[in-house]
Amino acid sequence: MATWDLSETRHHLLICNGGSCLRSQGDEVTLAIRAEIASQQAEDRIHTTRTKCNGRCEDACVVTVYPDGIWYKNMTPETGRRLVREHLLQGKPLCDQMAYAFRDGRFTPTGSGAQGVLRSAERARG
Ligand code: FES
Repeated sequence: MATWDLSETRHHLLICNGGSCLRSQGDEVTLAIRAEIASQQAEDRIHTTRTKCNGRCEDACVVTVYPDGIWYKNMTPETGRRLVREHLLQGKPLCDQMAYAFRDGRFTPTGSGAQGVLRSAERARG
């Protein structure tokens, strides 16, 4: 159990550890990201949380970054380490890994992630 002081935190990563993401190296991605954060001594700046399914299983392993509003897809331990170094510490998001970016008030698909299904369309199908 822990209660962290988040007053120095600039980024919060939600690392999906749902079933599909765990089958796509979710645990290894989590450990690689946390090891890179530790190695860069960036624990106060970057907070991480393991989550259950984020609803984007075709993009497994999924990592989202807040408050940036970026959804990363197909993450591996190596791209996880790059995410910490390049995006979070140098301000250069990994464009090739992005499925969505928050622009103009909504999550905008980059075109490289799975298309997915609108919830309203799924509801209409019954
Ligand atoms: S298990 Fe990760 S998005 Fe579904």
